[in-house]
Amino acid sequence: MKTRDRLRIAMQKSGRLTEPALDLLNRCGLSFRQSRDKLFLFGEGEPVDLLLVRDDDIPGLIAQGVCDLGIVGRNVLNEFQLTAPGLEASPLSELRSLGFGRCRLSIAVPSEMDYQGPQQLQGQRIATSYPGLLGEWLRTHAVNAGVITLAGSVEIAPKLGTADAICDLVQSGGTLVANQLRETEVLLESEAVLAGPLTLPVDERGDMLELLLKRLDGVIQVRESRLLLLQTSRATLEAVTRLLPGGPQPTLMPVAGQPDQLMLQALCAGEVSWRQLEEIKKAGAREMFVLPVEKMLA
Ligand code: PRP
Ligand code: ZN
Repeated sequence: MKTRDRLRIAMQKSGRLTEPALDLLNRCGLSFRQSRDKLFLFGEGEPVDLLLVRDDDIPGLIAQGVCDLGIVGRNVLNEFQLTAPGLEASPLSELRSLGFGRCRLSIAVPSEMDYQGPQQLQGQRIATSYPGLLGEWLRTHAVNAGVITLAGSVEIAPKLGTADAICDLVQSGGTLVANQLRETEVLLESEAVLAGPLTLPVDERGDMLELLLKRLDGVIQVRESRLLLLQTSRATLEAVTRLLPGGPQPTLMPVAGQPDQLMLQALCAGEVSWRQLEEIKKAGAREMFVLPVEKMLA
């Protein structure tokens, strides 16, 4: 295959991951121009292009070297790793978890069934689009069940009488409720991940990939980070500091004309709640601000 000097990322053409994935890449400073067929997005600033495909095709495209990376659900990646033939040639790895598209792969049974545990699935027919992941779970739990592989509309199989239970993705749970099904076992906690080959390229693409990973780490970190600013007297500093949500050591700055006062700045790893703020205030803090973090480069 001809070597490329531009990095190519595969992602879902239209679906739940498309918007947040594009948004994430934009935050990493990447912007794209759409081709006429809308299947290829050409990177404008950086040498990074996007290929828009069916999510199930993404792992294969990376394994074949058609794309360098992919943004795909962990469920799709893991299923590929369990079922793809000739995988030894180019195994894939999960380079980063991206924090969106959270869902779980679960077994669900008809609501009225009195489910006691995995053994109850013995001899039952389970419909799924994830025969690899389901098969692995069944083996682990020593359950001998029939796996019926369906490409879609798995949730209606019990009503049609073609299966006794299903193994499918659950996000809000709405689909299960609408089909009178009840979630009983969680096989996999899934979210969007950045997938890539186990060994990364050691050329210009590799350099770009490394740069992208660093930016991604920054973006993922700031998405959850808050900058907390407050004023406190030296006397209450210790009590206030003790209540600060986890994160690196706070920075202290003098307040002009008020030698007794300090300005404190702390980076918090997550959301700071009203309750936390009120507690910190009680300990002696005032003039408190919680700010979102726009960019971060460690
Ligand atoms: C998934 C899954 C369920 C539904 C669950 O399908 O197959 O049908 O989402 O979501 P809920 O718990 O919020 O109802 P998706 O919409 O991704 O389409 P697909 O199965 O065709 O890929
Ligand atoms: Zn799908």
